Amino acid sequence: MPRLVIEGTQWGDEGKGKITDFLAQTADVVVRFQGGNNAGHTINFNHEKYALKLVPSGIFNPRIKNVIANGVVVNPKALIEELEGLESRGITEYQLFISNRAQILMPYHIDLDAANEAVLGKSNIGTTKKGIGPCYMDKASRNGLRMGDLLNLDYLKERLETVLPIKNLELKSYGLKEYSFDELFELLISWKNKLEKHIIDTSILINEEIEKDKKILFEGAQGVMLCVEHGTYPYVTSSSPLACSVPLNTGIAPKYIDNVLGITKAYTTRVGEGPFATEINDDIASYIREKGHEYGTVTKRPRRIGWLDLVVLNHAKRTSGITSISLMLLDVLGGLNKIKICTKYQLNGKEIDYIPSNLLDYQNCIPVYEEFDGWKEDITSCKTFDELPINCQKYLNRIMEVTRLPISIISVGPDREQTIVMKDVWKND
Ligand code: GDP
Ligand code: IMO
Ligand code: MG
Repeated sequence: MPRLVIEGTQWGDEGKGKITDFLAQTADVVVRFQGGNNAGHTINFNHEKYALKLVPSGIFNPRIKNVIANGVVVNPKALIEELEGLESRGITEYQLFISNRAQILMPYHIDLDAANEAVLGKSNIGTTKKGIGPCYMDKASRNGLRMGDLLNLDYLKERLETVLPIKNLELKSYGLKEYSFDELFELLISWKNKLEKHIIDTSILINEEIEKDKKILFEGAQGVMLCVEHGTYPYVTSSSPLACSVPLNTGIAPKYIDNVLGITKAYTTRVGEGPFATEINDDIASYIREKGHEYGTVTKRPRRIGWLDLVVLNHAKRTSGITSISLMLLDVLGGLNKIKICTKYQLNGKEIDYIPSNLLDYQNCIPVYEEFDGWKEDITSCKTFDELPINCQKYLNRIMEVTRLPISIISVGPDREQTIVMKDVWKND
């Protein structure tokens, strides 16, 4: 069963980068399928730390084909800088393929993102201000430019001539600086010169790899609660990280998705605005934030902290067919006297076990908690489930019981080595 989707089950930053890198050791292809450089995936190995944004987490292994698929919005400037950053650290031999159908994120998307947020005022989304929303808007309104357009300058010229007047009208309505055709065309040509060797039809490549029965890892960005369809709309990103979006966003048939690994923090974090039922703001939150270094990889904002929410995890399971859980940052909870898990909500005096679509209702949900005794032992060098303190095992067992999902991986530290594998995630039971 060689196709596996890595999916964040909360509000992002669950540790997808670490697990993608870990599993990439046994993969042939790693595919990013949505989002853009709003993502920040941290990877630690050989005492080095890397923060990847657009580049798939298989980049460190020259054997692996890394794909940026059609569902991604590519800021070529950011991508070039990221690749140059990797090259300056000795990562020079890599295979990278960019879909000719991926959207190009233009400078005006970034301007419009900031302007939208400013107009929204106190109702702002708290975006990463990387231009992600406006770029996906242009894709849907058919005013986008695509990476493949860079390969034919006549077509590129025609497309820019078509869309620029519309974008300038929009910029003007916000009182923002307009762009000239020449400055943008020059920029696009400089990007073409650096990136054209990577641009291909990646749907063909991925399907060829499937034919050869190669192991393919689909690396999601963000998390289910930030999904534009199933998240806490409008406090979401503008794409869907769900496994069911993989076929559309990569150009493969749905039948090729075999397994979905739900990457889940042992607690919860969120950056940006929007409801968060299990959020805590006390000393425990500060303890977790400092111990888990919970500051945004992209924006450096302090992440909001809360207890693990199994209503959220069950929502992720139902909407995306998660087949097992990878439980992350378990070590961070060590040292706490008591640990809580939310299993249900109370809304207007009634118990519910789903996420209300209406945000006013969601804001009024009161978490119903189960409380567990904590553990004092350092678990960062544990290699098996049995080596974990008994209270820690009880915590994990309860998660499996409520979600009716197996935990296949337990992460006890940021490094590749600090990973307990309970089950082969490439195989279906
Ligand atoms: P992603 O966006 O889902 O890839 O997650 P991020 O990289 O933004 O955030 C996860 C953070 O947790 C990073 O700093 C990782 O290095 C770190 N991390 C991942 N797994 C573990 C773990 O098991 N324990 C600890 N202490 N840190 C971890
Ligand atoms: P990774 O892949 C956490 C959040 C932003 C904001 C909302 C919309 O590292 O898990 P956007 O810039 O996408 O329009 O912002 O989504 N957000 C993330 N939060 N991790 C991410 O990515 C995120 N990408 C976007 O903070 O609330
Ligand atoms: Mg992140």
